[in-house]
Amino acid sequence: MKVRAGDLTMAYDDAGGGMPVVLLHGFPHDRSMWSAQMRGLSGQCRCIAPDLRGFGGSDVTAPYSMDRYADDIALLLDALGIQHAVIGGLSMGGYVALAFWRRHAERVIALVLSDTRAPADTTETIAKRRDLIAVAKEHGSAAVADAMITGMMGKRTRQRHPELVAQVYRMLAAAPVDGVIGALDALITRPDSTPTLATIDVPTLIIVGDEDVLTPPADARALHAGIAQSSLEILKGAGHLANVERPAAYNHVVGEFLRAAIRG
Ligand code: MLT
Repeated sequence: MKVRAGDLTMAYDDAGGGMPVVLLHGFPHDRSMWSAQMRGLSGQCRCIAPDLRGFGGSDVTAPYSMDRYADDIALLLDALGIQHAVIGGLSMGGYVALAFWRRHAERVIALVLSDTRAPADTTETIAKRRDLIAVAKEHGSAAVADAMITGMMGKRTRQRHPELVAQVYRMLAAAPVDGVIGALDALITRPDSTPTLATIDVPTLIIVGDEDVLTPPADARALHAGIAQSSLEILKGAGHLANVERPAAYNHVVGEFLRAAIRG
């Protein structure tokens, strides 16, 4: 589906009914990474998975920043006539969820932060991202996919589920190169969300794969320590894409969390 949201046309999937749950993809992903959640959770809630600007079927339009991605989501909710929602995000989607909280907290029922972290980039990470921008400009998204695919999934998934690795590789390689470069810039310039954590006063579920090397369990524990009403789930045998690698376990913990949030 597509809808006009502010200055851009956004592509999104929308399934189920009841409490709206927005699922924000990471970098350089698109909404297809949530397909198992659209199937598994839409019996329980209204799952809305958009493509962030520059990815999937959404317009590839500057400017790019975490704040801008968050405001795009607020405009998408306006366009869909939704006032309040659970906001979930994986990795970069988690950074966007934290920006959404900073800018639109009154619209947030609860947060689901998966395989993500609060701090801004270190100098070393910024240098790596600048190298990746050069790779993207020179060789395109397939070269970015080559550089990123190993870190995206856990060791167990890489050994036992080559079909999932191939599926994720295709998603990374298909990302529009201008969207990839814009997102890398947004990642580099994102603020430190650590001071934000103490302001979060809605139920928050933190999920991480125990084999996540990009945003390891230590990052998830720091989020848990910083957010008063939070719970932490560590999924065994999953890497950075916990929702893709262990979809049934991921859906189970999110489903239980949403049930409690609905009972409120
Ligand atoms: C992601 O999956 O969104 C990225 O790994 C986030 C990051 O590089 O910080």
